Amino acid sequence: MRSSRALSQKIGQVVASMAKPISIEVWNPAGKHRVVSTKSMPGTRWIRLLTDADCRLEICTEKKTILDVEDIQALIGDKCDGVIGQLTEDWGETLFSTLKRAGGTAFSNMAVGYNNVDVNAANKYGIAVGNTPGVLTETTAELAVALTVSASRRVVEADQFMRAGLYDGWLPHLFVGNLLKGQTVGIIGAGRIGSAYARMMVEGFKMNLIYYDLYQSTRLEKYMTAYGEFLKSQGEAPVTWKRASTVEDVLRDADVISLHPILDKTTYHLINKDRLSIMKKEAVLVNASRGPVIDEAALVDHLKANPMFRVGLDVFEDEPYMKPGLAEQKNAVVVPHIASASKWTREGMATLAALNVLGKVKGYPVWPDANKLEPFLDESSAPPVACPSIVNAKLLGLEVSKL
Ligand code: GLV
Repeated sequence: MRSSRALSQKIGQVVASMAKPISIEVWNPAGKHRVVSTKSMPGTRWIRLLTDADCRLEICTEKKTILDVEDIQALIGDKCDGVIGQLTEDWGETLFSTLKRAGGTAFSNMAVGYNNVDVNAANKYGIAVGNTPGVLTETTAELAVALTVSASRRVVEADQFMRAGLYDGWLPHLFVGNLLKGQTVGIIGAGRIGSAYARMMVEGFKMNLIYYDLYQSTRLEKYMTAYGEFLKSQGEAPVTWKRASTVEDVLRDADVISLHPILDKTTYHLINKDRLSIMKKEAVLVNASRGPVIDEAALVDHLKANPMFRVGLDVFEDEPYMKPGLAEQKNAVVVPHIASASKWTREGMATLAALNVLGKVKGYPVWPDANKLEPFLDESSAPPVACPSIVNAKLLGLEVSKL
């Protein structure tokens, strides 16, 4: 493994001479393929992988958190082979046509979700769209668990009380919250992250499960049955599970509900005023998926009217903003979209995003199973010669790796 040559060829801050000047950092300036990353990303492996493969890498160093379309057009410039972008950016017709004009064929979101990407526009210009699944499953589920426990046991409220110097002795009523053990956890969306969260809640707190998903999750069901039998064999009460036929069934039955759907037009405002009204008065609602899955204004009204109802939110409808009134609600725990923010995960996401772009630029085939990306993340060996995860591979007719 080498790091010296390419890493030492980093040029400090430069201002690109483009229509809209924008500051960048250049690695391996003599590289043949020009790859742009709209943000600096954690770790250095992703940089090494690109520069070792003859890429000139330009990383945007603008202070602005969210780049607009014009900023990114300026970054793409006249010649660009591929771009690594972020979930805050609007990747649609304008950017894909700009990238195509610059000779580009590859884009990767540094995220598993890609609701910020118009895949039809990418298809139109023959541009591959990568994402970073698998590497953030546990990290995201763990944050959803943290939000659940924080909201249930009023951890943030209690922390603020303590820091404000208000604690003057133990009291029977002080910050009484909800016990999780033996209650029912509901999940909406039983994909990778939803299932990992369900298992954590079931194993950690011996909760029963109710889930809603368009597809049956036989893996999760088998796990629940086997875990229930194990508990029984230990003389403990077994956990139970049920697949609900409607979202409403989950909302009515569960004490804790965590949302894990993708965001599309079928899940926009999935949780609205009517659906909030059928939930238990003391329920806990958690969202670490995408903000617009909840009608946030309706949620604020519900939180105001139901002080025992609690919510844990990692994502917001109009990020980076919160709807008026949310910040004042003590029954809401709010964190700034950090569900995937563990060091291992963020470095892994950077690696997968870089390899998606690199693989397409080099003409590598696509990895056959985006659920099994471990070989790309193993730092002790070279990654497979393939693109880890291209969401429009089939549509673009990209070759699938035989590895
Ligand atoms: C984060 O929100 C992601 O989709 O990766």
